Amino acid sequence: MSSPEIRIAVLVSGSGSNAEVIIRYFKDHPRIKVALLLSNNPQAYALERARRLEVPARAFSREDFKEEGAVLQWLKEDKITHIVLAGFLWLIPRYLITAYPDRIINIHPALLPKFGGKGMYGAKVHEAVKAAGETETGITIHLVNEHYDEGRTLFQGRCKVEDNHSPLEIAACVQKLEHEHYPRVIERWTTGEM
Ligand code: GAR
Repeated sequence: MSSPEIRIAVLVSGSGSNAEVIIRYFKDHPRIKVALLLSNNPQAYALERARRLEVPARAFSREDFKEEGAVLQWLKEDKITHIVLAGFLWLIPRYLITAYPDRIINIHPALLPKFGGKGMYGAKVHEAVKAAGETETGITIHLVNEHYDEGRTLFQGRCKVEDNHSPLEIAACVQKLEHEHYPRVIERWTTGEM
């Protein structure tokens, strides 16, 4: 008997470079399909990327993201099995975690539990790493629960931070790690290898 199809929805708030790498990685995958990209930000460049890559994409509002709203309905209609957060800013509400228990994954651009929590997003994280004089940073890929950046860690990757590194240089190293590892971790996680 063949295994059931894994259907991923990617949630994004901004540029979507990770979303693009993920979409490309699974393009001809035998079991895993990126079926939908959703954004809370109608201006997100990620929506444009998805359209170019021929992945159905939609923006949603706060209202749509409530329990009785459109988002859960779209996920169900599309038979989404797993949710991937790729630079998504809003807290995931409890009803969604209940609907997708251990089926929501996130990437954070630092070595959690350091530099995580509400408001720790994108460039702010790298500026905080620099200001704290850290000698290393990296990425954390983790399951999502109802608190920001607190679910079980699946993977961490590391970047060295030298004294003369700027937050932009730190960001470049972190982004490289993200693009290299996130699709592969998603593949292993969705197929039950981790
Ligand atoms: C990524 O660096 C991701 O780790 C981060 O947002 C960026 C999105 O970049 N996520 C967080 O900070 C979550 N707290 P992208 O839109 O180019 O993929």
